[in-house]
Amino acid sequence: MAYENIRLEKDGPIAVLTVDRPKALNALNSATFHEMDDALRSLKDDTRALIVTGGGDKAFVAGADIAEMVTITAAQAREFSALGHHVFQSLENLPIPTIAAVNGFALGGGLELALGCDLIYASEKAKLGLPEVTLGVIPGFGGTQRLTRLVGRSRAKEMLFTADRIDAARAKEIGLVLDVLPADKLMEHCRAVAAKILKNGPLAVAQAKRVVEYGADQDLRSANELERQGFAVLFGSEDQREGMAAFLAKRPAAFQGK
Ligand code: HXC
Repeated sequence: MAYENIRLEKDGPIAVLTVDRPKALNALNSATFHEMDDALRSLKDDTRALIVTGGGDKAFVAGADIAEMVTITAAQAREFSALGHHVFQSLENLPIPTIAAVNGFALGGGLELALGCDLIYASEKAKLGLPEVTLGVIPGFGGTQRLTRLVGRSRAKEMLFTADRIDAARAKEIGLVLDVLPADKLMEHCRAVAAKILKNGPLAVAQAKRVVEYGADQDLRSANELERQGFAVLFGSEDQREGMAAFLAKRPAAFQGK
């Protein structure tokens, strides 16, 4: 599929997905979601980390496309919301680490996109917020739920009710972004984090992601059971034997992802 609204680039084992409609500050319309869906499906086993960012120098993603939404019916809104949920859920379900490089405005659906990633880093000029109530609506791509789980109900409600755009430093203070980087160092930092993760056993990283994600919605007992199962499963892998043998032999491990 040829893409008009996104770019998918491979850099060895790291893929970079750029939402690239800078004239509309990378706003997410249906066509963009379909392309993102296709791009996520197209990732092969040799892609071991994904960085998501925005094209141009102003925005990560400034939200869902308001021009597309302005006249839609409730039924169409439901469909649009379901499409966004599907794509962000697919992102969350990827068995590889995903990193949001928030290089500018991350508003509404744009913040929801970042929240669908495992790790969020922001440039000093990023501005984050959920302005939906200023438009008479609420977030519809999981933002009300993922933000609440990340920063707690009170901070999430504050952002949802006031529609305030917070800067990157504040976003770090409330635990919404992990670190704040100078704009020209953001991608480099995200690639370095990805490279560090890539040195580790990929099956183990995938299990770590899986048990955190599935465990987060469960009671502690059930979640701990998931961890026990995930831990045991890894003992059926060659990577476990290699990782431990390498430690004992005082050499770096050569993981195969098997
Ligand atoms: C469509 C958008 C857009 C958006 C910006 N543009 N955001 N188009 N949808 N979400 C377009 C503008 O219309 C404009 O087009 C161009 O991008 C540049 O934007 P400006 O507003 O001129 O830039 P600036 O003055 O710098 O202001 C930047 C901004 C502002 C603060 C980010 O654009 C803004 O407030 N955007 C909307 C943010 C928002 O409300 N997002 C939430 C959307 S609702 P032209 O053609 O005039 O140059 C949402 C719901 C998700 O996300 C759930 C749905 C189910």
